[in-house]
Amino acid sequence: MIKKAIILCGGTGSRMFPLTHSINKQLLPVYDKPMFYYPLSLMMLCGIKEYVFVINQGQELNFRKALGNPDDLGIRVEFVVQKNPKGLPDAFIITKELIKNQSIAMILGDNFFYGNMLSPIIKDSFKIKNGCNIYIYPSNKTSAYGVVEFDKKNKIKKIIEKPNKTNSNSIITGLYVFDKNVSNFAKKLKPSRRNELEIVDLINLYKRKNKLKVIKLGRGSAWMDVGNFFDLQSTSNFIENIEQRQSFKIGCIEEIALNNKWINK
Ligand code: G1P
Repeated sequence: MIKKAIILCGGTGSRMFPLTHSINKQLLPVYDKPMFYYPLSLMMLCGIKEYVFVINQGQELNFRKALGNPDDLGIRVEFVVQKNPKGLPDAFIITKELIKNQSIAMILGDNFFYGNMLSPIIKDSFKIKNGCNIYIYPSNKTSAYGVVEFDKKNKIKKIIEKPNKTNSNSIITGLYVFDKNVSNFAKKLKPSRRNELEIVDLINLYKRKNKLKVIKLGRGSAWMDVGNFFDLQSTSNFIENIEQRQSFKIGCIEEIALNNKWINK
């Protein structure tokens, strides 16, 4: 069972300049909470109590203020600074000492997941002993994401980053689970043409060893990558819509901690 998750909050956030000149993108408000509350809340719903936040230099105080005292949520948080954005797999290299030879989940701090029964499905997938899990979602914006192509027998054919052309609509969301080998495998990767280590290359390493599991998130769930102004706005509107109708909060980390019995009233 996975015990720890990395919340990846690095990157320059260049698609959101000038908002992100002074502050990590993942601290920006998405409707009524900082962006990173949403991926954090999903991990808390899946029972994860230990976190490693990978952040940009000079941002730790902001994150600590936005999060409050982790003891008040019954969770443990460590921060690791990523000096240069070198691609998603770099997170596993710089946190090697904290991963401590265990399987680990990683979720991108700008990814929003929502849906009935979503967390039980993901929690169940966290029972992994070895290998890698990825979580796919139907999207028509394949050129913006990692994509899984399947053959006629529904076997994974190819995993590619931001293809110009593909016949697949299965994109890879920003949630991953990797076994204890992940840091060593990440070190073997070579930078891509855009001079970054690519998460799809890491996933492909596991695929070649027949150790990749693909979990489909159904069309009845919602997934958004809040990486540009349009998605920031539309995700905020989505959350506002649901919260206004139900009077329940989405991504309320205090409520989740209470329901998990990690804290008391
Ligand atoms: C990254 C990954 C991509 C994945 C996406 C999900 O893309 O490289 O495979 O589909 O996150 O949010 P980026 O947002 O860094 O362009």
